Amino acid sequence: MIDLFSGIYSGKKVLLTGDTGFKGSWMSIWLKEMGADVYGYALPPLTNKDNFVSTKLAAKISHTDGDVRDKNNLEKFFNEVKPDVAFHLAAQPLVIESYNHPHYNFETNLMGTVNFFEAVRNCTSVKAAINVTTDKCYQNNEWLWGYRENDAMGGDDPYSASKGCSELITNSYIKSFFSKENTAHVASGRAGNVIGGGDWAENRIIPDMIRGYENGKGTSVRNPQSVRPWQFVLEPVYGYLKLGEKLLTEGKSYSGGWNFGPAAYENYSVGDVVNEVRKLIPDIKIDAPELKEKLHEAGLLKLDITKAVNQLNWKPKLNFKETIEFTIKGYLQELDAKNNIYDCRVEQIKNYCAK
Ligand SMILES: NC(=O)c1ccc[n+]([C@@H]2O[C@H](COP(=O)([O-])OP(=O)(O)OC[C@H]3O[C@@H](n4cnc5c(N)ncnc54)[C@H](O)[C@@H]3O)[C@@H](O)[C@H]2O)c1
Repeated sequence: MIDLFSGIYSGKKVLLTGDTGFKGSWMSIWLKEMGADVYGYALPPLTNKDNFVSTKLAAKISHTDGDVRDKNNLEKFFNEVKPDVAFHLAAQPLVIESYNHPHYNFETNLMGTVNFFEAVRNCTSVKAAINVTTDKCYQNNEWLWGYRENDAMGGDDPYSASKGCSELITNSYIKSFFSKENTAHVASGRAGNVIGGGDWAENRIIPDMIRGYENGKGTSVRNPQSVRPWQFVLEPVYGYLKLGEKLLTEGKSYSGGWNFGPAAYENYSVGDVVNEVRKLIPDIKIDAPELKEKLHEAGLLKLDITKAVNQLNWKPKLNFKETIEFTIKGYLQELDAKNNIYDCRVEQIKNYCAK
């Protein structure tokens, strides 16, 4: 029922960096429920509210604390696990943090990627490897059209630049090391703004709104007019898993970059998200927009998903309204202490797959 990947992951050893994070924890649950042996490598969760903690994932998968900047330790982990497939999700993922700590941002997102591919290169069990980047890897021209996989990489703020670089590193490793026979098949996944229960990162609109709701405080909305490719967390995860399936079954013809975003007509602004959330939780308070120093963040950003739709047979399952409904349901389930959150996540995976 939840295996949309022809059973390919059942009994496979799957290594994920960033399993303690938002996407990594959801992906670990889905893989676990499909019968994969899941091995995670990441920094410890930041708070007790993180999805990794609330779902008690540490007891269900094999997790090791580790830093992706530590090349030797990451390689040792790969060689102990001997995975069939590896996904790289560990990163510094926040634009504002990248302004506060640019050196750490670049170290983690560039050298972390290099160390991941070195570990893949030196571990012969790995048949497929996928680097998770972002829609922000593209040079943003603030134009109306969606970015295609062969558009130029770029990035003005340190986070976007680091993810553009992470893509260039991926391409370099594919061309230099992973194009030969008997090497791992390598690709990257570029997705937009992902939302869903269990994400408690600072300075993301929905976590900020839910935190405010819990504490009875108002939330100030940054850039309400900014259009973002909002997606429920399982949409890109479905894409990464589909890509992994294709690399494992079809090989190098699926190497390279892949966009996973909403349908072209499903691009909504930060203000639209706020309005949709307020329909579900009318008590949420919104303050006047922040007047703090405005850091540069891309205003208009769309992804063209034609390649994934046609060649991977992947497409988004939820429309905007359903995306917000799935997301808010996940948070409200967390706010009720009686719930077993792991079971709630599995139920959402089932409901998502049934769409
Ligand atoms: N959430 C989004 O909206 C979004 C959008 C586009 C792309 N992405 C990308 O998806 C990936 C996962 O993002 P997320 O939202 O789950 O972020 P997250 O912050 O919830 O998780 C990040 C993970 O990376 C790990 N990590 C960070 N620095 C590390 C280090 N130095 N060594 C080892 N582990 C480290 C953390 O421990 C955590 O497990 C990232 O590459 C991010 O850039 C996220």
